[in-house]
Amino acid sequence: MNLERSILTDCGASAELVIVAAMDQAYGTGKDGGIPWRLTRDLQRFRALTTGGVLAMGRVTYASCVDTLSKDRAVALLSKTRLPQGEARRVHAVSLKELLFGMTPAKGPLFACGGEGVWSEAIKLSQRGTRTMAALTIVEGRFDCDRRFPVDPCLWGFKEVLRTAWQDDPEGGPRSKFIQLVNW
Ligand SMILES: NC(=O)c1ccc[n+]([C@@H]2O[C@H](COP(=O)([O-])OP(=O)(O)OC[C@H]3O[C@@H](n4cnc5c(N)ncnc54)[C@H](OP(=O)(O)O)[C@@H]3O)[C@@H](O)[C@H]2O)c1
Repeated sequence: MNLERSILTDCGASAELVIVAAMDQAYGTGKDGGIPWRLTRDLQRFRALTTGGVLAMGRVTYASCVDTLSKDRAVALLSKTRLPQGEARRVHAVSLKELLFGMTPAKGPLFACGGEGVWSEAIKLSQRGTRTMAALTIVEGRFDCDRRFPVDPCLWGFKEVLRTAWQDDPEGGPRSKFIQLVNW
């Protein structure tokens, strides 16, 4: 885990954009407005990875997890509709691009946390030269999801910098493995 953590944080620090997603073996990411598995290991990794950054998420994802997000995280809610400003730590943007190019470098990377429209835009930005890392968790099994990751990560042309073996979850969740890719 130490080597994994150091590669994760080293690459994360030099990325402008980080795509974060957990998906099952059929690329499923969500079901009935939530995530159909609970993975303690992945939550721990997510918290470590995103410290100091801005979490960008679509309107539905935001509504599903706003109460569970640690209060020290800055959150950007993405919606094409101009929404009223909410709590102080939350900003609203109409696109990931608007957010990315409006951010000061001191804020650290922007984390594209899903759902589908957010990941799709992140992949497009990465293909146009934004320095991008992908931190992907693969969850063992198929969970009959109604939301999917938009592109097979093998097809992006990113370079793989880390792939773990299947790991047990400390609290009895499904097994998972972790893949990290960069576009530089
Ligand atoms: N496994 C994972 O890692 C993971 C991560 C996140 C979410 N999920 C799951 O995925 C599901 C929610 O995802 P979803 O795809 O249905 O919805 P979503 O992306 O959370 O929300 C969709 C809405 O967000 C806005 N939006 C999305 N992309 C945008 C962009 N690039 N620019 C501006 N606005 C954008 C739009 O809002 P307007 O209609 O207001 O314009 C869109 O209708 C849930 O089941 C959730 O639990 C899983």
